[in-house]
Amino acid sequence: MGSRCFAPIIFLSLVAVCAARPLYPLPSKLAQGAKQPLQTSRPYNIAHRGSNGEIPEETGPAYMRAIEEGADFIEGDILATKDGVLVCAHDLILDDTTDVKEHKKFADRRRTYMVQGSNMTGYFIADFTLEELKTLRTKQRLNFRDPQYNGKYPIITFEEYISIALDAPRVVGIYPEMKNPVFNNEHVKWSGGRRYEDVFMETLKKYGYKGSYLSKIG
Ligand SMILES: *[C@@H]1O[C@H](CO)[C@@H](O)[C@H](O)[C@H]1NC(C)=O
Repeated sequence: MGSRCFAPIIFLSLVAVCAARPLYPLPSKLAQGAKQPLQTSRPYNIAHRGSNGEIPEETGPAYMRAIEEGADFIEGDILATKDGVLVCAHDLILDDTTDVKEHKKFADRRRTYMVQGSNMTGYFIADFTLEELKTLRTKQRLNFRDPQYNGKYPIITFEEYISIALDAPRVVGIYPEMKNPVFNNEHVKWSGGRRYEDVFMETLKKYGYKGSYLSKIG
């Protein structure tokens, strides 16, 4: 199921890619102009789930390695924990990319839920608090990939992912996918009736990602 990408997706960089250059400066913790801007001399290099051939996908080290290797954008998938924190993970379940099965205290968390018309069984991110998730360690989903970093790195939050891009020594864009919003809204509740999409957009705005095209969404 790792290759089934059926969820609605927002490509933040779509406008930038089409226009060959960003319409607005990407946010930076440094003074504007102090960082080398996104290159425009060649197509963008977008690191899909970070440098996941080397390091387990969507972890901090996988994204930092991708930046070292020259990525212009880092791509990630955004899901929600039981307590409403947005985290980076491609799958709704933790089975293929973490050591969750080795944690005996979570053995009773295995569930079957309907996901887009099919039953899916496993350890769902939406049944774990952030604190619980952070006790797990990631691993490569594919056996032919380098296993030397298995069991070392935790799942990161959406905010940590953004911070990695903003802390890069040059301007690096983010490319987050809104993963399974229907499922997230069914299983996770936020205060004030906010929905997954609201929390996603609030997070982007908090870190300065904005542009005229966002006004249509609110
Ligand atoms: C999912 O599982 C439930 C409970 O076993 C079953 O009633 C339902 O028909 C299943 N749905 C699908 C689409 O397989």
